[in-house]
Amino acid sequence: MCGIVGAISERNIATILIECLKRLEYRGYDSAGIATIDNKHRLECLRSVGKIANLAAALKAEPLVGHIGIAHTRWATHGAPTTYNAHPHLSRDTIAVVHNGIIENYEELRDELIKKGFKFKSDTDTEVIAHMIYHYLQKGENFLAAIHKTVKELTGAYALAIINTQEPDKVIAVRSGSPVVIGLGINENFLASDTIALLPVTNSFIFLEEGDIAVIERAHVQIYNSKLKPVKRKIKSSEMSADNIDKGTYRHFMQKEMFEQPRALADTIQERLLAKEIPAEIFGNDAKKIFSKVTKIQITACGSSFHAALTGKYWLEKIAGIPCAVEIASEFRYRQTVTEPGTMFVTISQSGETADTLAALRKAKKLPFVTTLTICNAPESSLVRESDLSFITRAGIEIGVATTKAFTAQLTALLMLAVSLGKYQNLGLKTIQSIVKQLKHLPLLAEQVLSLDHKISEIAKLLENSHSAFYLARGGSYPIALEGALKIKEISYIHAEAYPAGELKHGALALIDHGTPVVVVAPHDNLYEKLYSNLQEVRARGGEIIIFTDKPLHLKNQPNWHVCQMPKVAAEIAPIIYTIPLQLLAYHVALIKGTDVDQPRNLAKSVTVE
Ligand code: M6R
Repeated sequence: MCGIVGAISERNIATILIECLKRLEYRGYDSAGIATIDNKHRLECLRSVGKIANLAAALKAEPLVGHIGIAHTRWATHGAPTTYNAHPHLSRDTIAVVHNGIIENYEELRDELIKKGFKFKSDTDTEVIAHMIYHYLQKGENFLAAIHKTVKELTGAYALAIINTQEPDKVIAVRSGSPVVIGLGINENFLASDTIALLPVTNSFIFLEEGDIAVIERAHVQIYNSKLKPVKRKIKSSEMSADNIDKGTYRHFMQKEMFEQPRALADTIQERLLAKEIPAEIFGNDAKKIFSKVTKIQITACGSSFHAALTGKYWLEKIAGIPCAVEIASEFRYRQTVTEPGTMFVTISQSGETADTLAALRKAKKLPFVTTLTICNAPESSLVRESDLSFITRAGIEIGVATTKAFTAQLTALLMLAVSLGKYQNLGLKTIQSIVKQLKHLPLLAEQVLSLDHKISEIAKLLENSHSAFYLARGGSYPIALEGALKIKEISYIHAEAYPAGELKHGALALIDHGTPVVVVAPHDNLYEKLYSNLQEVRARGGEIIIFTDKPLHLKNQPNWHVCQMPKVAAEIAPIIYTIPLQLLAYHVALIKGTDVDQPRNLAKSVTVE
């Protein structure tokens, strides 16, 4: 999704902006651009399609000078990914704007501006903002007032950074629905859509709140609320460091992140497990008094986080005995919903900035839920700040667009939540102790599964020429099959469908033919025999079965069965451990196909627009 950076400094700003912008590459984008104000107060702008490297090369050929500037990576929404649609967008060589988000009423605004004589050079929704600000400047407003008047007319979600040649000593940032962080330096200040972008230049941050407008000068930052009243926001230090954002010896971030799972899981459980309980306090100081009142759970999330939620449902109902409903956030947010008394609202998100999940939380806060809890990997994110309770998965920064370690950390958090809530529902001590023990085994088991990497790279060759694949599982492994199918879709561009194996014969079996790849998640649990029978239906139709199981031996010699022997895993933690081979499979298929593993086409890491 689009990324924004801006800066004002004594230093020449263009190369710093490009360095910061590169840190946002992981979010996914198709073009990039930069604008600065030079020493003669002239606006200079460069834009290019494709990678930031193209912009950097253009900048080398045609350097931009100046101590103030803004830059952007664009993920096309309105208008194709072309140079003329890339940001910044300018008005009358005076105003330059970069924008993250969507302006929903841009067509009406555009028509009005055309009537006022403005000429549009792009197909974007963003360009209206530049012209509107210029229009208010022409009417005699100062820079801040012109922006305030403009944003009052905008509908949608947006983060903006704007520079103006008439007031060349300030960058102004606006937050409305999309995050903006201010980075504080010594005699220089910065802004970005994501803390990661600014880690090379500062460790001191202010997170703008909804509706805030920040006037950023070299030695001073002033923040105003949506009514233009000066406000103070807390300065926070980030625990992240620029060193975390390095591939090290790995070929891809995704590969590095898969192999970081033993550590991510260990960090997620560290100091959170007691011998006889999983204390409610790990979900927030007030959790203890609230958890005893929870009689139902509603989880909403998107993408992989939704798959984590589906797995959570199996655990919450089985272990805690609490009914749990799971819904995709983009559906929940617009639907007429019923809130039963005693329901806790839970969101799950890696980034904590997913627009639909955030909107679902905001809707939930207006409804009579007993509390809101987020399971999130980004401690400084909007979801964490706006939820009553939070659990930070400690997976560490995740750069690969396809989530891996953040997903298994989410699952771990959900299993812990089920046990923690179970205490208030008479969950037996023996079960608690047994699951705590299993949770402690996770890092070691993850390591054992990662050692199957070579074997899985061989299995991946079976999918090299496939256009589609099925993923099958039963019970708590079914959401893991969904996640495996999503992984292969995202990075290998192979169409994959996941089915609860018992459902196959109700329609999709018609698609199984000689050689159809069928990936099976088959831990040796209470549904194994049922699953095995379903596989006979696939086998009889010539499907090529790739099965991950810890009960394989009798399968080894069957034609068209490719068995990947998994370590013995207790049923409760099987979904977490069985995720890993599916990640590795998708990764190796992508390597064979030569796709862009870390930044797959059309996708963004953090989906901050709906
Ligand atoms: O940051 P979030 O967990 O809220 O993101 C939700 C989805 O966009 C995300 O899980 C997406 O599906 C991943 N790319 C999957 O690998």
